[in-house]
Amino acid sequence: MWRSSLTRLCRPSLTFSQNLPACSTILVPIHRAGNKPHSSHRHKSSVPQWNNQDSSYSTSNLCGYLNKILNSKVYDVAIETELQHAKNLSRLLNNKILLKREDTQPVFSFKIRGAYNAMAHLPPSSLERGVVACSAGNHAQGVALSAKMLGCRAVICMPLATPSIKVNSVREHGGETVEVRLIGNNYDEAAAEAKRLEREEGLAMIHPFDDENVIAGQGTIALEILKKCVSQNVDAIFVCCGGGGMLAGIATYVKQVRPNIKVFGVEAADAAGMTASLEAGEVVTLPSVGLFADGAAVKTIGKNTFDLCQKYVDGMVTVSTDQICNAIKLAYNDGRVILEPAGALAVAGLKKYVEENNITGSTFVAITSGANMDFNRLRVVSERADDSERSLQITIPETPGSFREMYSKIWPRNVTEFSYRYETHQEANIFVSFQPLAHVENDFESVMDELKQSNFECCDISNNELAKTHIRHLAGGRSGCSFERLFRFHFPESPGALQRFLEALNMKWNISLFHYRNYGDDFGRVLVGIQQTQGEHCEGMNRFLQELGYQYIEETNNPAYNKFLRTSPMDS
Ligand SMILES: Cc1ncc(COP(=O)(O)O)c(C=O)c1O
Repeated sequence: MWRSSLTRLCRPSLTFSQNLPACSTILVPIHRAGNKPHSSHRHKSSVPQWNNQDSSYSTSNLCGYLNKILNSKVYDVAIETELQHAKNLSRLLNNKILLKREDTQPVFSFKIRGAYNAMAHLPPSSLERGVVACSAGNHAQGVALSAKMLGCRAVICMPLATPSIKVNSVREHGGETVEVRLIGNNYDEAAAEAKRLEREEGLAMIHPFDDENVIAGQGTIALEILKKCVSQNVDAIFVCCGGGGMLAGIATYVKQVRPNIKVFGVEAADAAGMTASLEAGEVVTLPSVGLFADGAAVKTIGKNTFDLCQKYVDGMVTVSTDQICNAIKLAYNDGRVILEPAGALAVAGLKKYVEENNITGSTFVAITSGANMDFNRLRVVSERADDSERSLQITIPETPGSFREMYSKIWPRNVTEFSYRYETHQEANIFVSFQPLAHVENDFESVMDELKQSNFECCDISNNELAKTHIRHLAGGRSGCSFERLFRFHFPESPGALQRFLEALNMKWNISLFHYRNYGDDFGRVLVGIQQTQGEHCEGMNRFLQELGYQYIEETNNPAYNKFLRTSPMDS
């Protein structure tokens, strides 16, 4: 619940070039220090009427930062990245979308800017002693490469369990003067060692976000955007927020140079430290953070970054894991880059903002902030990136033909997943995912209605986290049904291939297990359990399967089947 003072939207006193909504259900009204609220209640998607005399945009603090940004020493090592017109995304969202490609920096993230700027501004005596940093992510790579460029010693503390790919890439960027110290069971223990080195050996701590020169270095991203857009309108810039260094740097520069451009921060919903702090009006520490967007998973944002964001950021957007995965896919479609989850946050926030506020014809920029994607995570990304997929739990009677009848209500939509297991003599529960017809309004709801009219009980589980993360892999489980044989079928994937397979499987025997998941493979793979009748020999079924014409392998004696999909007592 927001306190009453926070429900008043304290608006920045500026004139906006476009009538973009200042707030919506997804934006946090930001209480700007020293800025009196103009209205006593909060309007949803209202058109802002700004007053141009707001003192909060002309403090000496701001000028100090502007100076620091303009004097940032980032280009010894960072490149001026492209502001790419994302044609597909623009078409999809009916707005002009530009991607600021920070993923193309030499360390594949913007972090090199802030790290190098902070180190290049150290006095020579500090540089001689060396620097220390604690990070298992992109900041570590930034510090390592900066140390190499400046020829200074750097100790980078990382928790013991840091994946070797990250350790190696820090070593590669760093070279001889960089020492990776693997220490502690978690981030806090590694950070304690970094603090000890600062205290006892006099090494200069390079903070990942809450340092003036780091913030200023990240602010050079805004400088480049505005330089490229001198003669074109930009309505808003979307920026990923972890500790807030990049958001603070960009917002501070933009509000000084082109204050009519809105700046929105984007956070993962389960790691929204800036959103929580702005709501509370002070820095708050989250009890825990989700690690999916690990680059931006920060429990406590910075004090400096908070102050700047409170003054200059127009709002915050939070996004779900699925929305981040979808944004990775969309950025891939345009830029042929695989962004890491934190790197795609801004795209996800932009899309959510545009869709929830029904905005068309505007120009938006999203910072694609990093591409250090852990390859092993691609599986979950591709599994969850498809926002056209919807999932249902359907109960069907355990009678011959009911599976096919249920499928006929979904056909001709593209089925991406089927999980069914014989449960009782009366009924079975099925996990189905499919893509509703894109050109038909409320098509998913129509399928549900049709199923219900045919007495199939069903429930929408498209947004059910438990179902999507775990149950889809466990659905069905064990059965003790009698005389079951198990077969794996292969068929070339093509539109309608599953439908043709099901048509062909029209037989007298009962199907007791059916599992299909479209992984984008060239072959469809289906696991089918078929029950023989009591006393029946195998030959009849064997002949049927051969005549079916599909490649298959019998798995009835596979120990994995017997251990994980069977309960033995009822077998006899
Ligand atoms: C790829 C990526 N994006 C965004 C962020 C968040 O940056 P900040 O901590 O400056 O908010 C990070 C932080 O490391 C990152 O690695």
